Amino acid sequence: MSRNETVKEIAERLSIVDIVAEYVSLRRSGSNFTGLCPFHSEKTPSFNVNPAREIFHCFGCGAGGDVFTFVMKIEGLSFPETVRKLAARAGVAFDEYPATEEEKKLRSEKDLQRKIMLLTAQHYREILTGRQDGEAARNYLLERDVDQETAAAYGLGYAPERRDTLVRLLGNRELPLETAERLGIIRKGEHGWYDLLHHRLVFPIRDTQGQPIGFAGRVLDNSLPKYINSPESPIYHKSNVLFGIDLALREIRQNGTAIIVEGYFDHLTLHSAGIRNVLATCGTALTDGHINLLKKHAQRVCLLFDGDNAGRKATVKAMELCLEQSMPVYVINLPQGEDPDSFIKKNGAEAFNQKAASAKPAFEQFLHWLLNKTPADSIDQRVRLMNEITPRFQLIKDPVERNLYQNEICRLLGIDPNAFRKRVSTQRKDTRPEPHQVNIKPSTCCNVTDVTQETLLGILAAYPEAREKISSFNLAELFDNDYLPIVKAVLDAEAVDGRDTIWHDILSRLEQEHQKALVARLLIQDRYLAEIDWRTALTQCLKSREKARTRELKPIAARLATLPQDSEEYLEVLKYAEQLRNRKSTL
Ligand code: CTP
Ligand code: MN
Repeated sequence: MSRNETVKEIAERLSIVDIVAEYVSLRRSGSNFTGLCPFHSEKTPSFNVNPAREIFHCFGCGAGGDVFTFVMKIEGLSFPETVRKLAARAGVAFDEYPATEEEKKLRSEKDLQRKIMLLTAQHYREILTGRQDGEAARNYLLERDVDQETAAAYGLGYAPERRDTLVRLLGNRELPLETAERLGIIRKGEHGWYDLLHHRLVFPIRDTQGQPIGFAGRVLDNSLPKYINSPESPIYHKSNVLFGIDLALREIRQNGTAIIVEGYFDHLTLHSAGIRNVLATCGTALTDGHINLLKKHAQRVCLLFDGDNAGRKATVKAMELCLEQSMPVYVINLPQGEDPDSFIKKNGAEAFNQKAASAKPAFEQFLHWLLNKTPADSIDQRVRLMNEITPRFQLIKDPVERNLYQNEICRLLGIDPNAFRKRVSTQRKDTRPEPHQVNIKPSTCCNVTDVTQETLLGILAAYPEAREKISSFNLAELFDNDYLPIVKAVLDAEAVDGRDTIWHDILSRLEQEHQKALVARLLIQDRYLAEIDWRTALTQCLKSREKARTRELKPIAARLATLPQDSEEYLEVLKYAEQLRNRKSTL
């Protein structure tokens, strides 16, 4: 099978809804499915999947395309990698096809980045384990009871006091410093290149395969800032990465539960105490991206943040995200002022396991905290409590759970269940509008000409009769360079079984992600095309396109006035102006 046939065959066998549903919880809404976009953080769903056309589009961030685009984006795979993965899933056999030049370039850039990160991790590790200037860090680890085995499991290292050891190492190996800069491990200042980390204990941040993608450096004393973290980079996306995943994955899959802690040291202490199903956020709040990652491997999440106010706030926030995505969420409650690290040191692993076994459902814990803070002892307080509770209660999807919580809330607050139900349903209308109905126009962010071109493109694809007519024009005059490849894909695409399959073929003919995203956007919201007569629309589009062109006449006249009349350029501009004028008169 050829590359295109393979891709087509895979697409036919798989349902985009099934694939997307593995990462996003989807709800049917008309002819689309909607959910929270996995590619940006949002509270109300603007992510749409259209099963008939096998495409997705997010009105929030503009991401869009077919099932291949989706898997590429969410898994961070290249196109061939994605085809391989989906081919296996669809049961389509395919022979490896040769990579394109662009794919080769991308792959070698990725290899280079990987190589640099590995080398960096080894460099810091060697200094910690073997070199004299690693002594301070070795003593620090002794002080904190971190044994060598644990240090090795994490690949801990030490960035020495000098600020150029990494820069020099990379230079000696003739590795491009610009690439290292993009990876965030070195920087360029007034006096040249310098290392991001120095005089710090180094935690490599690794992906599922154990490949380092970033670094965090902790001071060896009480100075500030306590940690310096690698910035976002082409390979490190903080909202999709949880620390310790390579060490925890097996246990999480077996156990079903992922315990989430805040700190690197919390993770390390739990790990060395034999508690392995643990992940840590890397100094950021939990995001939808994290929940999506968790959903792939865990059945439930157990939050274990510090027992202070900040920890509670973070817990409630994380609970909201989990509930929104139907991820069962629990809380392990530690005594005030303790973090997992200090708790284990004081009480041991057994005491911790007991705490973990009695983890409470997060919503129950939230109610408990809330009522401790604000007792329901006056009408005013009860109203205030309801305001806090309602939006979170609305996130609970399971009807049985809802009912149980409703009874409990009504009992605790002394509220009539009917009044409660009423409040819940009216507050929903105010605060959670249906977001996917907002936008019926082809686009909200582009200029008039773009809208015209997009309408034209929509018409072209939706009406085979229009295709012939439009292709009789000079396409380069009708469409900008941005749109031309898409128009060409539309005209080349084969409509075998009617209109929906043609979209598929169009998408597979487009190579660039933004082109696919554009087509997906047109597809998801092309209902407006059904309501217009294509002939009228075509005429209007042609007119406004021509008008936009003839608007050029004014500046051309001005330009002519400045040119010597016997110059070659004068004649050329004159000829062009004539053409424009002629065209205008036929409109
Ligand atoms: N953090 C950070 N930058 C800081 C402080 C904290 O990125 N300046 C992040 C780190 O991911 C850290 C987590 O927040 O692990 C929790 O902070 P904290 O409890 O202060 O650090 P611990 O890792 O627990 O370190 P230690 O036990 O050494 O205090
Ligand atoms: Mn801590």
